[in-house]
Amino acid sequence: MTTEHNNSADPLHAKKEAWSGRFSEPVAEFVLRYTQSVSFDKRMAMADIDGSLAHAAMLASCKVISEQDLDDIRRGMEQIRNEIKAGKFIWQLELEDVHLNVEARLTQLIGDAGKRLHTGRSRNDQVATDIRLYLRSEVDEIIAMLGHLQEVLVAQAEKEYATVMPGFTHMQVAQPVTFGHHMLAYVEMFDRDRERMADLRRRVNRLPLGAAALAGTTYPIDREMTARLLGFEGVMQNSLDAVSDRDFGIEFTAAASLVMVHISRLSEELVYWMSQRFSFIKLPDRFTTGSSIMPQKKNPDVPETARGKAARVTGDLITMVTLMKGLPLAYNKDLQEDKEPVFDAIDTVKDTLRAFIEMMAGVEPNREELRKAALAGFPTATDLADYLTRKGVPFRTSHDIVGRVVRLASERGCDIAELPLEELQGFSDKISEDVYGVLTLEGSLAARNHVGGTAPEQVLHQVSRWKKIFSERNPAAQA
Ligand code: ARG
Repeated sequence: MTTEHNNSADPLHAKKEAWSGRFSEPVAEFVLRYTQSVSFDKRMAMADIDGSLAHAAMLASCKVISEQDLDDIRRGMEQIRNEIKAGKFIWQLELEDVHLNVEARLTQLIGDAGKRLHTGRSRNDQVATDIRLYLRSEVDEIIAMLGHLQEVLVAQAEKEYATVMPGFTHMQVAQPVTFGHHMLAYVEMFDRDRERMADLRRRVNRLPLGAAALAGTTYPIDREMTARLLGFEGVMQNSLDAVSDRDFGIEFTAAASLVMVHISRLSEELVYWMSQRFSFIKLPDRFTTGSSIMPQKKNPDVPETARGKAARVTGDLITMVTLMKGLPLAYNKDLQEDKEPVFDAIDTVKDTLRAFIEMMAGVEPNREELRKAALAGFPTATDLADYLTRKGVPFRTSHDIVGRVVRLASERGCDIAELPLEELQGFSDKISEDVYGVLTLEGSLAARNHVGGTAPEQVLHQVSRWKKIFSERNPAAQA
């Protein structure tokens, strides 16, 4: 295998061949740096090679290039792949982008066959193909990671299915819920995120190649074959659309933004749950950091960072939408700006999911504190109103009665469950000894026993429903 190669003897030669035939002076140094994309699109190199190999196989099968050319191209590409993997490939700014870099090296290695590869193709349909291939495999990874995070949260839900905690509305104690139920709320959110990713994947997974520069090509090509070789679900049916829309990138950054929005909501909760005022949970030390001045500090840096990073992914979405808006058909160089936001969203979502998969497995709820917090703030007041309503008092009247009960308890500085029966009966003669059953936290939880409710029994139902879904997703993991 070749070690380091040197094609910088005449760095501009390949580029000259690529397009500068009609120019009388070279591109200014600054313009070169300004308009290049190789510094960031080289990460699509493997997709670029895959796309080229499929294109070449199709050209050979359609007799546009010879079998010998195809063999040479395969051999050259194999070597280039290895050079890139080994970090020995020399990327040249002068060659603008990943496509011209790979092609120039190929021609250097195999000669004329390398120059024939670009027959019936343009960088316009080539780049659209590359980014779809690249994004497709990243979307698959993100879907798998979301699934993994769901599994971690379901395991927490199973462990804490009966752990009582305050449920909030307006950040005021509202009704008791279980910690397991709370975890499962995020499992639902991440499931919709998975669905969105899987859905947009279908639209990413269509072949632009064959559109050439914008109008199609004069060679007798077989686009269905190229699509098959690359695992695309279909061939894009309009060449102008194929090279120029990046709506799939908008969809992806939108779905990625929603992942981050969900993560950010969870982060916000972790941050305040960790605050001394709450002490609802402990996070593993390796996900927190200290302060350089306050020795006692243990800061929830990972959730805070994730909450912040949600902003940048939303920024990536705004970049994509703004980039597309007002672009005339067909390809415009502006489209080169689609890559960094898409890459940034990919990297940020994957790093964040990775952190959360590990961190959420290590979250330790502080059961006593959660229970104490659930007891403060009359969380079973609604249960008392429901109790009266079941005994024939109209709900609005019950609501009013309980409001007055709460006021009394609040004046006494006790919970409503601590008021003596005679005193409760002073508010309504419908109240009897059995009222204390509904005024406890456990009674309140157990009473919400229907699909979607917080009762521990329901949480366990949901846990087994999810486990079944996970095992259907990934039967191998069962064994
Ligand atoms: N680097 C370019 C991009 O990312 C590739 C396509 C360039 N096409 C062109 N006609 N200049 O969009």
